[in-house]
Amino acid sequence: MDFFLDTADTKEIATGLEWGMCDGVTTNPSLIAKEKRPFRPLVEEICKIVPGDVSLEVVATDFEGMIKEGQELAQVAPNAVVKVPLTQDGLKAVKYLSGKGIRMNQTLCFSAPQALLSAKAGATYISPFLGRLDDIAAVGMDLIRDICQIYSNYGFKTQVLAASIRNPIHVIDAAKARAHVCTMPFNVLEQLIKHPLTDIGLKKFLDDWAKAGAKI
Ligand code: E4P
Repeated sequence: MDFFLDTADTKEIATGLEWGMCDGVTTNPSLIAKEKRPFRPLVEEICKIVPGDVSLEVVATDFEGMIKEGQELAQVAPNAVVKVPLTQDGLKAVKYLSGKGIRMNQTLCFSAPQALLSAKAGATYISPFLGRLDDIAAVGMDLIRDICQIYSNYGFKTQVLAASIRNPIHVIDAAKARAHVCTMPFNVLEQLIKHPLTDIGLKKFLDDWAKAGAKI
């Protein structure tokens, strides 16, 4: 499973890369807005420091606007993936731009039929938002499982990018469901590392070592 960081914060991305745990990055308009930096230099910097795919989202909602913005975003860097919402115009944009060789991430997916359409349109990634489904008392993980099964039944090449991840259980359940990618906020990546028994165990080893006055 690839680990993507769901952030536009270059410090978080640099740390994830140092840890060897950042295979790519996803951004969205809210994450970009949080950084309070001009868009183009920010996304160019992200694409430069990240060797893997970086999703950059359009803000146009009509087909022509998505095509125009999508073509511009695709030129930011060779690892840029254009992200468009799962609407009628968004599906048309995926079909059109993927036909031109631009890799597309279809975002804001909340149902299996939406995901099926997106794969048929030729998306490189589908982004089901499981945390936001959990928020409204639906089971987000069921959607990840359904999409993985449907794509596998028909051999679709579209990769399932589990998004709107809120905790380590989401990551593990998405891995069990064989999602290709999990995009997570930096704090979830940190949580994946931590275990209290690791800290307690390490302290005991070091205390025992010090008491014995041992040396390497
Ligand atoms: C996906 O690419 C989105 O950026 C993201 O996962 C949304 O997550 P949220 O529901 O935590 O905002």
